[in-house]
Amino acid sequence: MLKMSNPVLSAVILATSILTLSSTAFAADPAEGRKLASQCKVCHGLDGIAKIPIAPNLAGESQIYIQNQLKAFRSGKREHEMMSVVAKNLTDQQIADLAAWYQSIEITAKMPE
Ligand code: HEC
Repeated sequence: MLKMSNPVLSAVILATSILTLSSTAFAADPAEGRKLASQCKVCHGLDGIAKIPIAPNLAGESQIYIQNQLKAFRSGKREHEMMSVVAKNLTDQQIADLAAWYQSIEITAKMPE
């Protein structure tokens, strides 16, 4: 009889189910991010357009980039006197939600003539 077990296939199935699980655990919710973003608006603006010159605009910024930066501030890999404090207590879920919220804001750019 033919033996059905295929180690490569099993590994692929395992990897796929781990990916599915982790994406379910951190499914980003922009509506939650919008609520959390009230902590960010003094500097980054309610609409993600910065209010202070030393803070960057976050509106329309990619979710992956925002998420990576917040995790870097949280871990200390990236340091800034304001952001290191802000990011310190954010959970992975909150970071995902915030990143999804800022990415969802649509912006348009107008180049000078
Ligand atoms: C007190 C002002 C202040 C508050 C509040 C604040 N930020 Fe910031 N944020 C900054 C400044 C200033 C920088 C630029 C840091 C640097 O120069 O490295 C920054 C940078 C960032 C960056 C990196 C963007 C990039 O282009 O690299 C992200 C992402 C970010 N903030 C998200 C947030 C989020 C989300 C919140 C709320 C949970 C928040 N910030 C609250 C001031 C603030």
